[in-house]
Amino acid sequence: MRGYFGVGVEGISKEHNLGNLVRSAHAFGASFFFVIRPEIDVNAVRVTDTSGAFDHMPFHVWDSVENMDLPEGCQLVGIELTDESIELPSFRHPTRAAYVLGPEMGDLSAEIQEKCDHVIKIPMKFCVNVGVAGAITMYDRMMCMGRFAERPVKPGGPLRPHEKQAQTHRRRPSRKTRTTKT
Ligand SMILES: C[S@@+](CC[C@H](N)C(=O)[O-])C[C@H]1O[C@@H](n2cnc3c(N)ncnc32)[C@H](O)[C@@H]1O
Repeated sequence: MRGYFGVGVEGISKEHNLGNLVRSAHAFGASFFFVIRPEIDVNAVRVTDTSGAFDHMPFHVWDSVENMDLPEGCQLVGIELTDESIELPSFRHPTRAAYVLGPEMGDLSAEIQEKCDHVIKIPMKFCVNVGVAGAITMYDRMMCMGRFAERPVKPGGPLRPHEKQAQTHRRRPSRKTRTTKT
């Protein structure tokens, strides 16, 4: 996977949502996690996280948007369902990115949206759970930035080496059927 990414959330108010998002970020290979103005006890989540995300990813707690301290050159990408947001399937992910999600009962603050280099949305009828929105975005990044085999034309996975070989043999006409010039 090229580049790196971090994930964070502003004003989160439910511990299980934070735990869910941190776990997904860890599983998708995030390089760091952050919370801005959390309304919960972050340490309580730390104790209940069974994937050990807090031990394997740098974790930042910032008390204000102003005090955010992202790595140099890292673009801030807001994830929010607004009319102006860029639709995720049409978005090119920055090589170095920090994705920030909003609170359960509100939206990303105007202050943080101002600070964002981009604001994206997952095109859908209405908002989904914050952890789900984070996981969809990370999956999309993985699809765009990862190195995966092309999807085949036919349903199913890509051919394995021995299947490819068999297909090539099947295509080549056998000696008997080859036409000989007279
Ligand atoms: C449950 S939503 C917030 C509730 C929402 N403001 C409402 O209409 O009631 C929590 C966060 O999840 C993210 N989110 C959920 N669905 C989204 C979508 N379709 N596109 C972008 N962000 C989404 C946003 O970051 C949002 O602030």
